[in-house]
Amino acid sequence: MSSAPRQTIAPHGGKLINQVATAEQRQKYQDGAGGLKRVRIDDRAVSDLELIAIGGFSPLTGFMGSEDYHSVVEKMRLTNGVVWSIPITLPVSAEVAETLEIGETLGLEDSTGTLVGILDLAEKYTYDKQREAEMVYRTTDEKHPGVKVVYGQGDVYLAGPIMLLERRPHPLFASRQLDPADSRQAFIDKGWRSVVGFQTRNPIHRAHEYIQKCALEIVDGLFLHPLVGATKSDDIPADVRMHCYEVLIEKYYPLDRVILAINPAAMRYAGPREAIFHALVRKNYGCTHFIVGRDHAGVGDYYGTYDAQYIFYEFEPQDLGITPLMFEHAFYCKRIAGMATTKTSPSGPEDRIHLSGTKVRAMLREGLEPPPEFTRPEVAQILIEAMQKQAQ
Ligand code: ADX
Repeated sequence: MSSAPRQTIAPHGGKLINQVATAEQRQKYQDGAGGLKRVRIDDRAVSDLELIAIGGFSPLTGFMGSEDYHSVVEKMRLTNGVVWSIPITLPVSAEVAETLEIGETLGLEDSTGTLVGILDLAEKYTYDKQREAEMVYRTTDEKHPGVKVVYGQGDVYLAGPIMLLERRPHPLFASRQLDPADSRQAFIDKGWRSVVGFQTRNPIHRAHEYIQKCALEIVDGLFLHPLVGATKSDDIPADVRMHCYEVLIEKYYPLDRVILAINPAAMRYAGPREAIFHALVRKNYGCTHFIVGRDHAGVGDYYGTYDAQYIFYEFEPQDLGITPLMFEHAFYCKRIAGMATTKTSPSGPEDRIHLSGTKVRAMLREGLEPPPEFTRPEVAQILIEAMQKQAQ
């Protein structure tokens, strides 16, 4: 007889990090806040601070020092050998860096001036932006949205352990805010031994739904984890995307097999390297499997359609500790009258209903519903309304 699972998969690096201040620590820092030197950080850094503190970036306990940074950029590993594919760094201008002393405790404030965290400054170092772009983003083209951020940010990285001062409810999605410790507990409570994580930054369409459900056929639960941190300005806003998910799940998903929660991370658009990173973060949330479809985390034509899948073969499975579930390009196939991929349908291109993102956006702007083979009508309606509101 099978018994319910009592634990979930081990976090990356073995220990789930928790750097959220206790009530006493918070009091101490808030009382002494007047004396703290303050550094303003951008929205991405605020997301990173939060994810480090809640354990989403385990085993990281702070912003990376130069040794880990170089090791990650060059070898996709931390200096201790643990796989890590994206640098997690805190950029500031050289002028700001000059005013800061190694060893001091800094108050980190967000764009509104609110004190959100603490950094024990262990190191400050300059870095080669072109090299970071070439290695992490596989391009030095300043038009790439991730590279553009690197080129535009400060020239010095601050490093050291952090603390998040307060765990605040998310202003828009408080009921969907599950920290890694919470999602792990939720998986245990549901009795799930295997859980597949799904990353997305786009409104859900039928191909997403298809690959999620194919995955769900072989695991116990589906963890839908849309990214709601900073994205590029022409991506659909997170609140609209979340609304699409909520409506869709209600009608088309088995509710006892799905958990929808937000991922507070910012998007890097680093394609293959970000696919590894996305998988490791979902492992920290307790997922045993992770979906990687076509051009995962890609943008424009910078990456080959399946580069984000091939990169997984550069690692030993035990070094990743989460199993990628890879999917070919999915579409609605008229010949078989159902969703399929080139692996499962003998169709030619003329049998396939697939629309580009640009085409879909143009249709929605005109108030036209994309065909139901591409988008569920309920989702199309939400998107049309959002587009029309935006245009007013
Ligand atoms: S991403 O930047 O978060 O990867 P998106 O939200 O479009 O963008 O994709 C979410 C996941 O679905 C990714 O794993 C992506 O590879 C996959 N995906 C998106 N569209 C398709 C499709 N038509 N066929 C197969 N996989 C897809």
